[in-house]
Amino acid sequence: MRLYAASAYRSYDVQKRLYNGYLKRDKGNVALVDTYSARPGHSEHQTGLCVDFTTDSIGGAVDDKFENTAAFEWLSENAYKYGFGLRYPKDKTDITGYKYEPWHYRFVGREVAIEITEYGLTLEEYLAQ
Ligand code: DAL
Ligand code: ZN
Repeated sequence: MRLYAASAYRSYDVQKRLYNGYLKRDKGNVALVDTYSARPGHSEHQTGLCVDFTTDSIGGAVDDKFENTAAFEWLSENAYKYGFGLRYPKDKTDITGYKYEPWHYRFVGREVAIEITEYGLTLEEYLAQ
């Protein structure tokens, strides 16, 4: 099993290009694109703290298939040890504002990562405590 970083730091311009590409693909449906992509200037990828992971068994794709890979299983069990937490968990879309992204992890430091992983919290919930 190989774990790859498909996307990590993104500049404002890269995020802008991505967002506009999604908008074009989804025929200008801003409300839809906003459920899965941050607007330029609002992506946590611009902080350099986030990584979109992928793996060889799904050909390097960054999509829902990642949830059923050994790489995702490994991350679920080990990411917190390195200070990373799943940023957009399932069933928390109303809190994060984004759909489930099994591939997107954010570095939050070990202490926070342990807590959010153990209690299944979003960063928003952790910060509101
Ligand atoms: N896909 C995440 C939300 C981003 O664009 O930063
Ligand atoms: Zn991401």
